[in-house]
Amino acid sequence: MSTPYRAGAFRLSPEDYRALTDAAQANPEAYWQDQGKRLDWIKAPSNAQDTGTGWFSDGTLNASFNCLDRHLKTRADQTALIWQAEEAEHIIRLTYRDLHERVCRLANVLRDHGIRRGDRVAVHLPTVIEGVVSMLACARLGAIHVVLFGGFSPEAIADRLADSGASLVITANVGRRGAKRIPFKTTMDSALSLRPDSLSVKHVLVVSVTDEPVPMQAGRDDMLNPLLASASASCPIETMASTDPLFLLYTSGSTGKPKGIVHGTGGYLTWASYTHELVFDHQAGDVFWCTADIGWITGHTYVVYGPLSNGGTVLLFEGMPSHPKPGRWWDVIQAHKVTTFYTSPTAIRALMREGNDVPREYDLTSLRVLGTVGEPISQEAWSWFDDVIGGGRCAFVDTWWQTESGGILISPVPGAVKEKPASATLPLPGVNPILVDDKGHPLEGATEGVLCIDGSWPGRALTIWNDDALFETTYLRPYPGHYFTGDGARRDEDGYYWITGRVDDVINVSGHRIGSAEIEDALAAEHAIVESAAIGIPHDLKGQGIVVYAVARDPSHPDLEMLAVRAIAAKVGRYAVPEKVYIVPDLPKTRSGKNVRRLMRKIACGETDGLGDLSTLADPEIVEVLIAIVQG
Ligand code: PRX
Repeated sequence: MSTPYRAGAFRLSPEDYRALTDAAQANPEAYWQDQGKRLDWIKAPSNAQDTGTGWFSDGTLNASFNCLDRHLKTRADQTALIWQAEEAEHIIRLTYRDLHERVCRLANVLRDHGIRRGDRVAVHLPTVIEGVVSMLACARLGAIHVVLFGGFSPEAIADRLADSGASLVITANVGRRGAKRIPFKTTMDSALSLRPDSLSVKHVLVVSVTDEPVPMQAGRDDMLNPLLASASASCPIETMASTDPLFLLYTSGSTGKPKGIVHGTGGYLTWASYTHELVFDHQAGDVFWCTADIGWITGHTYVVYGPLSNGGTVLLFEGMPSHPKPGRWWDVIQAHKVTTFYTSPTAIRALMREGNDVPREYDLTSLRVLGTVGEPISQEAWSWFDDVIGGGRCAFVDTWWQTESGGILISPVPGAVKEKPASATLPLPGVNPILVDDKGHPLEGATEGVLCIDGSWPGRALTIWNDDALFETTYLRPYPGHYFTGDGARRDEDGYYWITGRVDDVINVSGHRIGSAEIEDALAAEHAIVESAAIGIPHDLKGQGIVVYAVARDPSHPDLEMLAVRAIAAKVGRYAVPEKVYIVPDLPKTRSGKNVRRLMRKIACGETDGLGDLSTLADPEIVEVLIAIVQG
């Protein structure tokens, strides 16, 4: 079991933390103005809080400058980025000077290809240095990056390219995963050919990860490496308003269409810097390893903007946790003396299965802070990570947040907030969570309810791309005056928060957020299927797994399950493929025609004893039919 507080080793004491919380409470405007000073502004903002015009609204700055140029005076020769290839002997170390130079070169290449402030640039890359460089190069020019997860299908990529109106794409010939090659360029080619009329992509720049050739379309595609070699190594920064978008990142909600969450520049970067320093106890000499892909918000905030704005050293690992043999991650921690290790409960569950002897072969004593994000962690996984990896010496931060929040909102602070295994504990200073009942009434004391955030915080998303109204109706309208998170939570007698999971139809598979409606829409496009419902059920390894109930046009068709799986893989991606597809004669519906998901979930989980009142169903007999099918 972890030692409470573990005082002494960390930047903040419980008293320091209390002073921050009190200051944020007493005068939020002064508190946030002060936090805004962690950035270098071109024009310092005269106000901090969002009073309708956004955070730090009259300030101007450049995010790339804040992550690079401003460090050149004091830490040009410090390592900014360590890239560790799958092969142990293949390591690239970039100092802040090197990284700045690479970013300038790429920014110049982008400018030569017509990219200007406000343009959207899609980034679709494996874990290579160019991912980080691309983001900061866009930021330098004021172009808006749209990073696309490597696991998206061509359809999913095309949807996001169309919605964002991206005019340039940065991709790779291939990604490497063991002996396998992931076909990045040909996946992008398929995406670009799907519905060319709705896309604005004029240029595709291709990073050579290996020397494997890929088809190139003359006039549209260029290999990036030779262009970088001949580009100038200096590039002026664009002056951006605090509220100008820095990036779009697509995430799933309860509609089928992915939402392009828009993050601004000044507020977001302040939040990235504030939370990275506070939650990860950032200190000089730290080696920070966040295992998230840069295609997700965790990678944006804690691989790139948080640690680099704070002048930290970031590790990027190309490989997998247990390839070529179990223990590869522990080997990386040992080799690079990682101090701060941030990963997902899904990864921990998988690594636990390899047993305790594997990590014990490695020296993990460099670790000081362990963190998790993305899904609830069980007490068992928490304790294993804390004991076997952290040796009971480390601070453990179970961080709760989401794409829309820009950075962490609820988390322990090392040395200052006493942990409880599997609780995200307390809000960061300046964050005001509340629990409300179904009608939106705030609940007091130890209780359970819907998690909302009272007021705002600098990292909150600006809007949804092309859809301000949807932002309002999704987050601000359900509980007026509060931001609606989509999560449920319990608060205990110490005021600690325990996240209970989504209260909407979002499924969390291995930390990947997938909307039920996305899967149902994919199946609606498959002719053989008339109607479907996708449900999340508990899964030992993935946290949640997906189960689909589908009504077939012709139930005697022999390949219905395969067709369903194919439709989902094609429209969404393989990461959304269900554990099980049940072909059923009908779905349980209320008399007004609404699917009763609660019932379908219980049946899929085998909890058939307490199904409750079935009299409101249009056809109560369907329940027995579904049970028989599921129990096979
Ligand atoms: O349900 C919560 C869960 O992940 C959702 C956000 O997903 P996404 O936008 O993809 O961002 C993931 C990385 C920040 C949340 O609404 N979630 C995130 N962190 C936790 C969590 N659930 C429980 N505990 C957490 N620490």
